[in-house]
Amino acid sequence: MSTPDELICFIKPEYKLPLVKIQHDIKEKQEEIKKTDESEHPRQEDGQPMSKRQRKREKKGMNKRRPIFKQSLDEQLCRSLVDGREVECERSDKCRMSHDLKSYLENKAPDIGEKCPIYDVKGFCIYGVTCRLAKNHLTDENINKNPNKIERTERQHLPWELQNSLRKKTFDYSKSDKVLKEVDEIIGKKLIGSAGDDENVKIRLEEKKRIDFSNKLVLSPLTTVGNLPFRRICKEYGADITVGEMACALPIITGSLPEWALTKRHSSEDIFGVQLCGANARTVCYAAQVLTENIDVDFIDLNIGCPIDLIYQQGAGSALIRRQNVLEQIVRSCSRILGEKPFTVKTRTGVYANKSVAHELLPKLEQWGASAVTLHGRSREQRYTKLADWDYIEKCAKEVKRIPIIGNGDILNFEDYQSVRERAPHVSSVMIGRGALIKPWIFKEIKEGKAFDISSKERFEMLQKYVNYGLTHWGSDTKGVENTRRVDTIKNQLKFF
Ligand SMILES: Cc1cc2nc3c(=O)[nH]c(=O)nc-3n(C[C@H](O)[C@H](O)[C@H](O)COP(=O)(O)O)c2cc1C
Ligand SMILES: [Zn+2]
Ligand SMILES: [Zn+2]
Repeated sequence: MSTPDELICFIKPEYKLPLVKIQHDIKEKQEEIKKTDESEHPRQEDGQPMSKRQRKREKKGMNKRRPIFKQSLDEQLCRSLVDGREVECERSDKCRMSHDLKSYLENKAPDIGEKCPIYDVKGFCIYGVTCRLAKNHLTDENINKNPNKIERTERQHLPWELQNSLRKKTFDYSKSDKVLKEVDEIIGKKLIGSAGDDENVKIRLEEKKRIDFSNKLVLSPLTTVGNLPFRRICKEYGADITVGEMACALPIITGSLPEWALTKRHSSEDIFGVQLCGANARTVCYAAQVLTENIDVDFIDLNIGCPIDLIYQQGAGSALIRRQNVLEQIVRSCSRILGEKPFTVKTRTGVYANKSVAHELLPKLEQWGASAVTLHGRSREQRYTKLADWDYIEKCAKEVKRIPIIGNGDILNFEDYQSVRERAPHVSSVMIGRGALIKPWIFKEIKEGKAFDISSKERFEMLQKYVNYGLTHWGSDTKGVENTRRVDTIKNQLKFF
């Protein structure tokens, strides 16, 4: 018989990996996510990415050496050839992409997998031979299968004609101009003391297509991390309402493709809002008009809670809490320009920690035409340093007569949810941000009414799903694969999962 010592199988030193500390403690994670505050909004009004200080911060953390992926045009295969057939390019004299299919295929970067998630779901893959998981949709002769099913327009969210009219400033904003003029008149009349427009507000609210904001779980708008693949995961776990990453109004009306990409919605997002940020009524109203006329969105939200200095200094984000004349113009004009679609506002308790103003602001937002207001129970000054003040959220919710108030802050599990529902009964729904980043299944937890964790196998499967959704969203060609891998997508997500 063998002794216990002989039964032990020792690992050879060359196979040992250094110990990595895994953080299971949610409180530790809480500490970690506090640091994310500064990376909430990494873009400027013009869509250009951020200040030096912010970029320096971005560089901290894992994956920091991964460069932003760039591919010159002549390294990319012309779209006319993606199906693997030698077709002549219609724009051959102007097209700067590669038309040498044979050489492209010889030099193509190796595949990263054998099963293309796009082909698996749709029965065709628009990336054809450029897909890095193309094996299951290419014939032995490298011809893309089912090419007739390919819908070329799917790739482009901002149609070329629209982009052109925005860039050349020929888009017809006469509707917005009319609304802005009307709003100026209303505000003017109010200043000389003639109009109390309570009745008008009531009528306008009735005209709006009601989104039922009662007892809903709303996923926070989360710049960068609240991307479409992540929102799909949250929908599967039971989020009721989703909001896209904040888009700046100015690059929307100048036709910036990356900004328009933020307005994309997945078909599973059945109640979906786009969040805007901007510093003046004309820009925000124009953006609201062009979006509502051209994309599929249920409501538009205005971010007046954003604490980031760059946005604040431009007079946008939480600066609008102090610029209430401009805020009134924005809310009145946007709620009108959206017609039956709701215009909502997301705010904080105020700018300063010792001077909460939301209890006065919320009734005004209601009066000006907002269809719902989300209140994050902290001031700009507080950032994430103290817990959200749910008693104050309740006090504000009580001040509002007709519109739903969505409470937000520090719901990290089912118990937190239960406790805020008891503390703030006048709040219609709750919004969850970091809680969903830590565990996207928080929505399921709340709906099932009990706390639970998922196994490491399920976590891995969730991550796999996220990667597949990422490849479907950002693309399965080299550019898409690099984008999916990039710093601000998977890396940011991994930090939370
Ligand atoms: C990484 C990150 C990005 C965020 N981006 C946005 C945003 O784009 N728009 C916005 O209104 N709030 C943004 N927020 C704030 C959240 O929406 C939410 O109001 C805040 O985190 C408090 O909710 P929580 O305690 O559930 O996280 C962001 C927060 C984080 C952590
Ligand atoms: Zn071409
Ligand atoms: Zn593919």
